[in-house]
Amino acid sequence: MAEELIVSSSLDKKEKYQQLIPQIKALVEGENDLIANLSNIMSALKYSFNFLWVGCYFVKDNELVLGPFQGPIACTRITKGKGVCGKSWEESNIIIVPNVDDFPGHIACSSDSKSEIVLPILNKQNKVELILDIDSDKVNSFDEIDSKYLSEITFLIESFL
Ligand code: SME
Repeated sequence: MAEELIVSSSLDKKEKYQQLIPQIKALVEGENDLIANLSNIMSALKYSFNFLWVGCYFVKDNELVLGPFQGPIACTRITKGKGVCGKSWEESNIIIVPNVDDFPGHIACSSDSKSEIVLPILNKQNKVELILDIDSDKVNSFDEIDSKYLSEITFLIESFL
């Protein structure tokens, strides 16, 4: 396992993902513990992009329950359909929120969160088992580039489920 990740600060966002993703794949290779792998992936994303918060929620008994994350403390439980995470789970869709103030029902775990992207992670039965939530302290931080490359990461996580 590599001891540190290398993501050059001079690169644009797309190039950073292209540099990071093979390193994330190498980081989890040979380890089959889900929590260990999720923990390292959350850290790799948070510190490569300096996001405000990167974490995941598990679907448990018809609620989302907080899983491994990096960043400020966060809400531990989210009801289906509530907030961006609950909607992404309900609709099984990626949701990009350019400005959280414009998203009705957004759950503000941190007042510093200004924009976010949420991706569902499906199990082998095609049901949402986890949610990946990334928050930024700037508006308009996420677009199709994030959606495309973060999907590579959610597909990688799906391969462990
Ligand atoms: N932003 C989320 C809540 C979780 S925290 O941001 C970590 C939402 O509205 O779903």
